[in-house]
Amino acid sequence: MAEQRSLAMITGASSGLGFEMAKLFAKDGYDLAITGSSDGIFEAAEELQKLGAEVYPHKADAATYEGVEGFWKFVSDFKRPVEAAVLNVGIGIGGGSFLETSLEEEMRLISINITGTVHTAKRVVKHMVPNGRGKILIVSSISATTPTPYETVYGPSKSFGFAFAESLREELRDTGVTVTALLPGATDTNFHDNAGMSNTQIGSSSKNDKELVAKQGYEALMDDVDHVFGGDEKTKKEGEGNRTTSETEKAAIHAEKTRPR
Ligand SMILES: NC(=O)c1ccc[n+]([C@@H]2O[C@H](COP(=O)([O-])OP(=O)(O)OC[C@H]3O[C@@H](n4cnc5c(N)ncnc54)[C@H](OP(=O)(O)O)[C@@H]3O)[C@@H](O)[C@H]2O)c1
Repeated sequence: MAEQRSLAMITGASSGLGFEMAKLFAKDGYDLAITGSSDGIFEAAEELQKLGAEVYPHKADAATYEGVEGFWKFVSDFKRPVEAAVLNVGIGIGGGSFLETSLEEEMRLISINITGTVHTAKRVVKHMVPNGRGKILIVSSISATTPTPYETVYGPSKSFGFAFAESLREELRDTGVTVTALLPGATDTNFHDNAGMSNTQIGSSSKNDKELVAKQGYEALMDDVDHVFGGDEKTKKEGEGNRTTSETEKAAIHAEKTRPR
């Protein structure tokens, strides 16, 4: 009987970091269950299939309970052990002060970045622990290490992801299930445009290469590292430096990059 390939699931895999990580899994011999909210998820699946993987795309809105639960049902219906789960989906909101941004959009951000992450993690952990194995990657951000004025809700949502990953990692020690956090610096994806940040310094400046950042996250996951900053040396230095810089100072530096022009 042919040996079955390992199955990985990735949220937010239509484009950007999720899609780049999906390529790495496919090249390494994994089959993939992927989700996104647009038809782009089906185009992504076609591309990934060319790399030799069986790819199962699912279109759902990660901002809703039904969307998240529906993807989990889709995955679990394959009755295959999920060997790796990348909780990547996330959105930003910037381009204005907290006084100006929309409460409705910010509630949606919290649903995707925080509520959806907890929901997906609950299903994944309860599936992996009885199997005695599995790898979980939570995509946080370098924003988890600094206040983020003009993205006032986004940064704290990513701080949640980082602390959540590190907490879960400790709880799951000795279960065979590992948890890794990826903290990318600004990366060249659709993220900043979708976040309404084209009119900011960070939105228009050069960014980290998405293939590099995805590779760093993938390797950290495979090597069971607790967390990794994603990006070039400057980004890594910034992340490390944030540990010892005061919150007030970091807030002022961040505001320079994110204040709308
Ligand atoms: N790019 C950066 O500078 C940066 C830096 C630090 C951290 N991050 C984090 O990296 C992660 C990936 O972001 P990215 O940079 O790759 O952004 P991206 O290019 O905008 O990709 C976002 C992905 O999420 C999906 N998505 C968006 N809203 C969704 C929804 N409501 N339901 C289901 N899927 C949805 C999109 O697919 P559809 O279009 O099909 O919905 C797409 O696949 C996020 O968690 C982000 O916070 C990014």
